Amino acid sequence: MTSGSITNVATVPQRSPFRYPGGKTWLVPEIRAWLRALPQKPEVFMEPFAGGGAASLTAIFENLAHKAVMVERDEHVAAVWQVILEDADWLAEEILNFQISLESVREVLSRDPESLRGKAFQAILRNRVQRGGIMAPGASLMKAGENGRGLSSRWYPQTLARRIRSIYEFRQRITFFKADAFDLIPEYLDNETTVFFIDPPYTAGGKRAGKRLYSYNEVDHEALFALMTRARGDFMMTYDEAPEVEEMAARHGFFTRKVPMKNTHHASLFELLISPRPKSTVAVSCLSAFQTREVKQEHHPRVRAAKNRRSPGVKCKKERPYYSPMPKRY
Ligand SMILES: C[S@@+](CC[C@H](N)C(=O)[O-])C[C@H]1O[C@@H](n2cnc3c(N)ncnc32)[C@H](O)[C@@H]1O
Repeated sequence: MTSGSITNVATVPQRSPFRYPGGKTWLVPEIRAWLRALPQKPEVFMEPFAGGGAASLTAIFENLAHKAVMVERDEHVAAVWQVILEDADWLAEEILNFQISLESVREVLSRDPESLRGKAFQAILRNRVQRGGIMAPGASLMKAGENGRGLSSRWYPQTLARRIRSIYEFRQRITFFKADAFDLIPEYLDNETTVFFIDPPYTAGGKRAGKRLYSYNEVDHEALFALMTRARGDFMMTYDEAPEVEEMAARHGFFTRKVPMKNTHHASLFELLISPRPKSTVAVSCLSAFQTREVKQEHHPRVRAAKNRRSPGVKCKKERPYYSPMPKRY
């Protein structure tokens, strides 16, 4: 199923201090629509592959979930989140006071910082001055940069400081773990008021971009899908469109939908959104039926009944469609 139109990213508030490779700012309208259509506001919005955290920040800033739990394995990316949530003023001031030049950038990037603060500042600088925001080994510095402004073309000290301080304002509602997603996800599976936004690096076929984008790019996707069949709460997984992913989703009884996106070369591509229930017109009071393991198959009578709302046995009082019933095709 294909739906939606390409998001104009300029219309979505940028809240993350990262310009994250594979970042999901463009998916924010979908994430909002998903959360708003839930029968109740989730207690926890869990983002186990957090990266730049665009989804968690949306959930918290827009009050679409009570709390966010972010998990990231990369220690440099993690350092930025840890310092923002504990020591935001220091990081903001360090950014405001940094005099950017080729020499100063090279000097900071050549350091081997031991402190969390040092790691965080180096990581955010690296993210802003390397091509495509790539922080993994092997990435190089931007040369011409935006409008020929070179290294400073993505270094906006005031904006970064403001974003960092804004996130700090919400620190009571954001918990960050430097950890492996596979260790943290199981702790939340039994809680039906936790929803998961899952955006893992995807490198199947050996030719996907994820391999050079992140230091941690190997994920056992089969194990991840198997884990998510145990989730009592709702989830949205997002993947590159690929036949093997669609096949894996079908095998686990999940539903898929393609949404259009643009890559950095402005070519239209599709992203695959995976969920435990169909995303067409679903009656909200039936949602819990989709959230249990037994009813993830489309042919299951309760799922079918909820979809066409004819079965007298299923109570579906209120309907809140969140995808266009007549989706555009691309
Ligand atoms: C596709 S990116 C997420 C981008 C994010 N959704 C955003 O909008 O910025 C995937 C992230 O997962 C992290 N990662 C990879 N393996 C992980 C694991 N086992 N546990 C936690 N994080 C992991 C990578 O370091 C990377 O930051």
